[in-house]
Amino acid sequence: MGTSVSNSVNELLSPAPCLEPDFGKKLRFLQPSLPPLDTVMTYYASAYHAGLITNSELVARFEQAAAERLQVRQCVAVSSCTNGLVLVMRSLGLTGEVILPSFTFFATGHAVVWNGLRPVLADCDAETWNVDPRSVERLITKRTSAILGVHLYGNPCDVESLSQIASKHGIKLIFDAAHSFGSQYRGRPVGQFGDAEVFSLSPTKVLVAGEGGLVATNDAALARRVRAARNYGDLGAYDPELLGLSARMSEFGAALALASLEMLEAKVARRNRIADTYTSLLRPLHGLGFQKVRPEDRSTYKDYSVHIDAGVFPLDRDRVAGMLAASEIETRKYFWPSLHRQKLYKCFYHPSREPLHNTNRVSEGILSLPIYESLPDEAVQSIVQVFHAIGGA
Ligand SMILES: Cc1ncc(COP(=O)(O)O)c(C=O)c1O
Repeated sequence: MGTSVSNSVNELLSPAPCLEPDFGKKLRFLQPSLPPLDTVMTYYASAYHAGLITNSELVARFEQAAAERLQVRQCVAVSSCTNGLVLVMRSLGLTGEVILPSFTFFATGHAVVWNGLRPVLADCDAETWNVDPRSVERLITKRTSAILGVHLYGNPCDVESLSQIASKHGIKLIFDAAHSFGSQYRGRPVGQFGDAEVFSLSPTKVLVAGEGGLVATNDAALARRVRAARNYGDLGAYDPELLGLSARMSEFGAALALASLEMLEAKVARRNRIADTYTSLLRPLHGLGFQKVRPEDRSTYKDYSVHIDAGVFPLDRDRVAGMLAASEIETRKYFWPSLHRQKLYKCFYHPSREPLHNTNRVSEGILSLPIYESLPDEAVQSIVQVFHAIGGA
């Protein structure tokens, strides 16, 4: 990266000047820091002038750069994480049931249902909030063909336990890594694990392509099928290998992703610092809980959420969100309601099979706070002050 680009990246990532305590204007939940347009256009110009604006050299270059960074044999760029998950499951020829956490974004479940597979909803771990391998194991039947883990907010799943369960039962293991480009499991990049991992590159993510997804796998045969699948199933013979979709990445998306890749490490580092600040300042308050990231792992902190225990903290989650909103601070409730309480998924869930106690407890108290690279330290302090005003430290 040239000096001028480095400087502008640093400017983009540095916190904005100090805000007034009441912020004067709304503090947004999300403020994506995009790469400098000049850098994007430098990448894009060649594709544009060659008249090759989709699924061409820049896409191949991005796939190569991503594979090197993730230390994985194959990356296949697609139009979204949702489509990537749909195509991976299709390409693996899954049947019957797929086990996934209820505590996730609904796109994880949609990818299963679009394949005509039955989603079986597992509980989350009380501390990491990721899918609990013990719950997964309880749900395995003769019909189970795969486990679909989610690295929630970028916090890596218990990959080892899930891999052991998958190999013991001879089933596939896929990760919805939508939040996790830049995460590490035991010092190794997320992207290398299971049969495939699928990232999202949409604007709310740390690595962005405008819209886009990326399938990472060490299985060359699977990568070949996904390459076909993103192009209607056709590898060029005009005789589709499988029932694919129109799910290619545009060259402009790849240019954005290549430029965005240059910012990744700095973005993940800044997000980790913000998360550490939130946690250290909020931890003294009774009734707040935090997602456990194992010390040997690294999260991207695509999101930062706290759990508010309504029985201990003076106000419940919705009232705290209301107090923050009154101070012009936007929040979200990622991911509430959890899948088993949503219209589309209720029919797939029977409490007698798996009660989902942790999922209910965590999702009922979850509150996601603003986190992005340009978030001023003073803003973090002010958000924390609202909690302290309520929690009476
Ligand atoms: C856990 C999870 N899975 C999948 C997706 C879908 O990603 P995309 O919009 O790239 O399809 C998201 C989007 O935020 C997500 O949070």
